[in-house]
Amino acid sequence: MKNFGLDIWADNNFMIQNDTININHASMPSLLELTQEIREKGHKGPILLRFPHLIEKQISTLFKTFEKAKKEFNYQGDFQAVFPLKVNQFPNFLHALMDVSSEYNYGLEAGSKAELIIAMSKTPVGAPITVNGFKDKEMISLCFIAAKMGHNITITIEGLGELKTIIEVNSDLNSNTQKPIVPKIGVRIRLHSSGIGIWAKSGGYSSKFGLTSTELLEAYEMLKKNDLLNHLWMIHFHIGSQMGDIAPLKKALREAGNIYAELKKRGADALGAINIGGGLAVEYSQHKDNREKNYSLSEFANDVVYLMQEISKNKGVAEPDIFTESGRYIAASHAVLIAPVLELFSQEYNEKGLRLKEVNPPLIQELYELFTSLERKNAREYLHDALDHMESLLTLFDLGYIDLEDRSNTEILVNLIIKKSIYLLKNESTNELKKLQDRIQEKYLVNFSAFQSLPDFWGLGQQFPIVPLNRLDTEPTNPASIWDITCDSDGEIGFNRNLPLYLHDIDVSKEEYFLAFFLTGAYQEVLGMQHNLFTHPTEAVINFSDDGSYTIDNLIEAQNLMDVLDDLDYDTNTIDKALKYQIEASEHMTKDEKNDLLGKLYLYLSENSYLKTIQAQNEKQ
Ligand SMILES: Cc1ncc(COP(=O)(O)O)c(C=O)c1O
Repeated sequence: MKNFGLDIWADNNFMIQNDTININHASMPSLLELTQEIREKGHKGPILLRFPHLIEKQISTLFKTFEKAKKEFNYQGDFQAVFPLKVNQFPNFLHALMDVSSEYNYGLEAGSKAELIIAMSKTPVGAPITVNGFKDKEMISLCFIAAKMGHNITITIEGLGELKTIIEVNSDLNSNTQKPIVPKIGVRIRLHSSGIGIWAKSGGYSSKFGLTSTELLEAYEMLKKNDLLNHLWMIHFHIGSQMGDIAPLKKALREAGNIYAELKKRGADALGAINIGGGLAVEYSQHKDNREKNYSLSEFANDVVYLMQEISKNKGVAEPDIFTESGRYIAASHAVLIAPVLELFSQEYNEKGLRLKEVNPPLIQELYELFTSLERKNAREYLHDALDHMESLLTLFDLGYIDLEDRSNTEILVNLIIKKSIYLLKNESTNELKKLQDRIQEKYLVNFSAFQSLPDFWGLGQQFPIVPLNRLDTEPTNPASIWDITCDSDGEIGFNRNLPLYLHDIDVSKEEYFLAFFLTGAYQEVLGMQHNLFTHPTEAVINFSDDGSYTIDNLIEAQNLMDVLDDLDYDTNTIDKALKYQIEASEHMTKDEKNDLLGKLYLYLSENSYLKTIQAQNEKQ
């Protein structure tokens, strides 16, 4: 996997040039040079890089592809889109999103009151806002306030109780006014069709959201009775995120399209839009036999447009505007997490660690000879001999015939033989070799928290592409497991024989080695948790100018130790006093020593939780 599957997941956004991975845009800087520039400013630990040009690429591709499909089928409805805030609410992302999307009348989707406030303050008046999820009277009132501000806002009814509250709020806020203003109304429908994959629960009959056909008819009557039917304009569904297969979407579109047409024929004249939610999948796979989706964006757009047209034609109703709420597709590629490797945990299996004696036990001497004369043509046979010798040597140790140094030599030699044989036999991937790989995998200790930065890996096993920042002109040979720095054994991306990751055999005391985790821009940041109090990493925005050069903007350092404690509602003044008092009250130090310690303490308190130095730097200092 020398190219780390870039042809599968990278969508031409990144490319390997000589030995580094570079941004395939403008002056094509390498991720390594960006990382080093930021680290030279004193920011250590993991760094999240954001690339607004990749947000722009996704938005323009989405709009252009749907426009193309509309043109091809001569479709009469409009195409509109909103970004679901739950996917990424971080200001450095959202401001970039709003900046790059201005020409598309692109809006925002909110699923909570706080998200609604972001939508109301950041969406340009006229661009659509959709509001989904459970709502109370306050949230519905906020939607009415937004409509009165002039926003193009649609409240999606998720249940009949909500519709009753809408009717109540309408009468509270509109009965004494000359010009009543009501938000547009949408209804989320409960489809038979469910999605596919780990997020499929959002659709289907047992899903948390949406109205059944019976409830839909009741809602229709309630709207009519309360003079609100002329505000019902959108049918909404969402069958789940990361929809790997296009088939469930087609089924859902047929169901939703027919519901739209039936309601329209019944008299819902204002009904004019169908919102297909999110679900558009991202290719996270680094392995060609394990792709995560079976369709392209063009196929997706063509299916939506074609099916809506076909149903509208058959039922004799106008073709609806098509809305999407794709989030993952828009946000995933824009963020790359870069984290330094701190240590490799199998350094002891290094030839330098051998403690061979003048006279070794014969089986150890033989193991050494197997190792030094190992070649492609004898690799399989020597490997079997080595494994056999190891069993015998371990038995000899248990019986007291060989000492600890002999046992250590056995472990090192057998590991070296396995590793070299696997490399020599890499074109013959047999089950035996695959099993042995598990045994010799290297553990890479990486300065990040999987709980904070890859929560979907921790919770759901979602894979993310991993690539080292340099050495990409050499074949990586170490089957790798990645350990994060939390004190939790779940913070590990274990070596997976079916989706193997190989990294380079490096000595981090001599050179820096960084790993990049790609496609982390959707969901990971806000879902990330502060396990062990590791916080959101330091982040920076990389902007490109017209002349191709880049700037590193909006650098936000990870929270310092006291701010983390403050967030947990500790009284940091009391903590500060307690620490200071304990140094000052100590009877074992002179005044100068105390001052020196206080200086150090305050320096550390001003830094973040991630580890600061790697061995190479320690040794250089
Ligand atoms: C109602 C709704 N719309 C849109 C989305 C975004 O989905 P995705 O990120 O798969 O595009 C979600 C996510 O769960 C959702 O619940």
